Amino acid sequence: MTKRREWTAIPGLIALAAAAILLSAYSGASSSQGSQPQQPINFPHTVHVQRLGMNCLYCHYAANKSPDPGMPAVGTCMGCHLIIGPQRPAIAGVRTAAYKSTEIEKLVNYYKGGAGKPVPWVRIHKVPEYVHFPHMRHVNAGVTCQTCHGQIQKMPQVYQYSSLNMGWCVSCHLNGYSDHEGQVAAGYANADSNVVTPAGAPQQAATAAATSANAQQPLPAPPGAGRQPATNATGRKVARYDCANCHY
Ligand code: HEC
Ligand code: HEC
Ligand code: HEC
Ligand code: HEC
Ligand code: HEC
Repeated sequence: MTKRREWTAIPGLIALAAAAILLSAYSGASSSQGSQPQQPINFPHTVHVQRLGMNCLYCHYAANKSPDPGMPAVGTCMGCHLIIGPQRPAIAGVRTAAYKSTEIEKLVNYYKGGAGKPVPWVRIHKVPEYVHFPHMRHVNAGVTCQTCHGQIQKMPQVYQYSSLNMGWCVSCHLNGYSDHEGQVAAGYANADSNVVTPAGAPQQAATAAATSANAQQPLPAPPGAGRQPATNATGRKVARYDCANCHY
């Protein structure tokens, strides 16, 4: 392609991107924001992450090395729950009376001494098949889980926090992401900072922002393995937003 041809192709791309973002914003095709299906076992992230201090990667073991974060096998749960059985005693500071946990009982029934079935967890977050979403690229660039998933550690029952629509993805790739925002989103840093835009907030501005930023800067070069994420003029981590980056 000649230099001239290359440049004339860009407005077309922008129009395409704008149209696609509008389409995806209004069709609500894959958006199930807020969805909170009943799970086969009422698994409390609150207890395991907040009270026991477990790391997300203990159970979602592949989030930093694979596109798919992974779900814990029953055996992972039973490492503890063979000992922490359905009969729960009183615990100082937690509860005053002993009780029998029907939820742990269900877990033990799935396990059946190792011969049982996996727990049929109901999938909550899902992008369409034609979208490529690599967890490890985000996690290794320092995007905290909670930026996209909300403060899971405080959810008695998990729900879909962000829209997961195209405008949401492109908006972050374009406007960038700072470590401070990630810490605030995760609940680790002072939340009174006014620079924070909560992940999952409506993205109406994405189209205009995409157009203006595209006009100002060339597309970032494709990233290579092991390199630092690219940053924009204000030092925010950005990512590619050409169609092929996210679409097969
Ligand atoms: C002890 C194991 C364990 C730990 C630790 C854990 N999770 Fe989970 N997670 C699960 C299980 C089991 C489910 C499925 C049931 C549910 O939705 O609660 C799940 C579900 C999820 C889902 C929804 C999956 C879907 O279908 O879309 C997200 C998102 C998630 N966890 C994020 C996190 C984050 C972020 C952390 C750390 C703050 C974390 N988890 C820590 C076991 C764990
Ligand atoms: C590191 C140890 C550990 C692992 C791994 C673990 N748990 Fe737990 N779990 C606990 C402890 C400790 C409690 C709190 C028990 C209490 O309050 O008496 C608990 C509580 C629970 C409860 C709440 C019971 C109730 O009635 O309130 C459920 C349900 C549960 N776990 C399911 C799971 C499942 C499913 C997995 C695997 C995805 C899992 N746990 C993995 C240690 C663990
Ligand atoms: C940049 C946003 C983003 C970040 C950061 C992120 N996720 Fe996700 N997560 C998603 C999207 C989008 C999906 C749906 C992916 C798909 O359908 O392939 C998802 C899906 C999941 C699922 C369901 C997968 C399944 O197979 O059922 C789990 C569990 C999960 N994420 C856990 C985590 C954990 C733990 C972290 C941090 C270590 C994390 N995520 C970081 C956006 C994110
Ligand atoms: C909160 C910010 C944020 C959100 C939301 C987000 N991303 Fe990313 N994305 C990033 C960052 C940062 C990188 C890492 C760039 C790097 O390593 O150079 C990245 C990398 C990627 C990559 C790897 C290729 C590349 O450009 O480096 C793909 C593919 C991708 N994201 C797809 C998606 C999709 C699809 C969604 C929406 C479902 C999404 N992202 C949502 C911040 C985000
Ligand atoms: C950063 C990731 C990302 C980039 C870059 C991206 N898309 Fe998407 N796109 C998505 C996601 C996620 C969806 C599915 C969710 C939705 O429909 O909003 C999607 C959906 C779509 C859809 C279907 C909309 C619908 O409602 O059915 C079209 C068409 C589309 N994209 C075209 C494009 C074109 C053309 C480009 C390049 C100009 C592009 N996309 C760039 C992430 C991306």
